[in-house]
Amino acid sequence: MEKQKTYTLGAVTVVWKPHRCIHSANCIKALPRVFRPKERPWIQLEGAHEDAVIQAVEKCPSGALTYETPASKNQTNAMEEPTNKIQVNLIENGPAIVLGTVEVTHPDGSVETRERRASFCRCGKSVNHPFCDGSHKNA
Ligand code: SF4
Ligand code: FES
Repeated sequence: MEKQKTYTLGAVTVVWKPHRCIHSANCIKALPRVFRPKERPWIQLEGAHEDAVIQAVEKCPSGALTYETPASKNQTNAMEEPTNKIQVNLIENGPAIVLGTVEVTHPDGSVETRERRASFCRCGKSVNHPFCDGSHKNA
């Protein structure tokens, strides 16, 4: 089971999957009163209205952050409407971000499903291959 933490305030639950974070800091730039990496807990939902929290979570490129509300129980970022088309965004000096649900077959034959978005390492430095872990920043 993939490690994750949940943070709930009112009707919004934010789900954080640390192994998916590529350290883009989009969340911190969007809402520094809520996403506070030097503090524990590092996500403090009291810092903003829930609509602002949802907007900030939607800026997460890797799928490390998702949210649940009573209207969307499936950790789906609203910006990611289901589509048949898979999109790949190449980040300069960073990962390939795949938008769409993909099945990843590992060398040992195990299959892992990444729903709606996944970021793949292009620099070869990730310790969480084939996924990006933010190590490209030091590469
Ligand atoms: S990948 Fe997502 S959780 Fe990690 S820093 Fe960027 S926006 Fe925040
Ligand atoms: S591209 Fe991010 S760790 Fe390689």
